[in-house]
Amino acid sequence: MSYEAFVSGTGGFTPERVLTNADFERMVDTSDEWITTRTGIKRRHVVDPGMATSEMSEYASRLAMEEAGIGPEDIGMILVGTVTPDMALPSTAALLQERLGAYNAGVSDMAAACAGFLYGLATARAFVGVGQYEHVLAVGAETLTSITNYKDRNTCVLFGDGAGAAIVSRGKGKGKILSACLRGDGRQWADLQIPAGGSLREMEPSDLNNGRRCISMNGREVFRHAVRGMTESARVALRDAGLAQEDVNLFIPHQANVRIMNAVAERLGLTEDRVFNNIEEYGNTSSASVPIGLYEAHRDGRIRPGDTVLLSAFGAGFCWGSIVIQY
Ligand SMILES: CC(C)(COP(=O)(O)OP(=O)(O)OC[C@H]1O[C@@H](n2cnc3c(N)ncnc32)[C@H](O)[C@@H]1OP(=O)(O)O)[C@@H](O)C(=O)NCCC(=O)NCCS
Repeated sequence: MSYEAFVSGTGGFTPERVLTNADFERMVDTSDEWITTRTGIKRRHVVDPGMATSEMSEYASRLAMEEAGIGPEDIGMILVGTVTPDMALPSTAALLQERLGAYNAGVSDMAAACAGFLYGLATARAFVGVGQYEHVLAVGAETLTSITNYKDRNTCVLFGDGAGAAIVSRGKGKGKILSACLRGDGRQWADLQIPAGGSLREMEPSDLNNGRRCISMNGREVFRHAVRGMTESARVALRDAGLAQEDVNLFIPHQANVRIMNAVAERLGLTEDRVFNNIEEYGNTSSASVPIGLYEAHRDGRIRPGDTVLLSAFGAGFCWGSIVIQY
């Protein structure tokens, strides 16, 4: 049994409160000039206390369901890509299920860091493709402010909060998912990690202040591998879709660093007008960045019928991937 899987609705949410580069100049030894030229980031949207990942996921998911024209009872599976679950147990997907009242659905989180939404979307396509479900909700949502060390200038200027969602439906929708390439390389796990708080190294009282409960990163290594991984997976996904680089109308890369995005686009031969870019406004929102981009591109009329859209992301693990959608 094999069915075509379509993106039938998208949604996005970002909190109202904003942290600017000027705010960071007051917190760590940095400058607006450094952050802007090295990353492309000017602002990040951050939650107020009390708002967590499942709440942002709910707002994004409701928009996606409305566009898809489905109710909560129609969802067969909820997959949430996140590194910042509301709590360690249960899954954020379960908490989102309660918020939506989607009680016919299975629930699971996708642990693929910044590539979590890509992994979720590809899994949704597979579930729909084999005929197991008619509609799957794939979410990428993060409260990165909860795992950011605001004393570490190497990382704190990069991250923001937000959520994006897509409904994947059997047989009909706006954009047909043509191919998905998912990859990983566990040899590189140490370059991007949260050292404390897992079964390997439980949280100790001192970890509350020493940064070990927050993201720790070898930025240069991540940069290098991100460019290579996103480029290679994009080429494989395009090949598997029977398309060439020049067929891509819009490239929506993970918004980690504008220099990474531009380097990948250059290697793929894509001009700047074909690269979606909102990093200036939101910074790096990990698994939320690609679905927020997909939502905003839809909302702003940047995707037209007939367009080929390429999604790519890279994150901790390392793990990464690319997906091709034909509108
Ligand atoms: C983090 C990142 C922006 C750093 O940019 P870079 O050009 O690689 O910079 P480097 O690591 O070479 O650091 C250059 C200098 O800037 C300094 N620096 C780092 N952050 C700084 C900041 N916010 N303000 C001022 N200086 C800073 C470093 O300390 C270093 O100083 P040194 O040479 O005296 O040691 C970049 O590597 C990156 O974006 N990596 C990918 C990160 C990412 O997106 N990860 C998330 C998951 S995909």
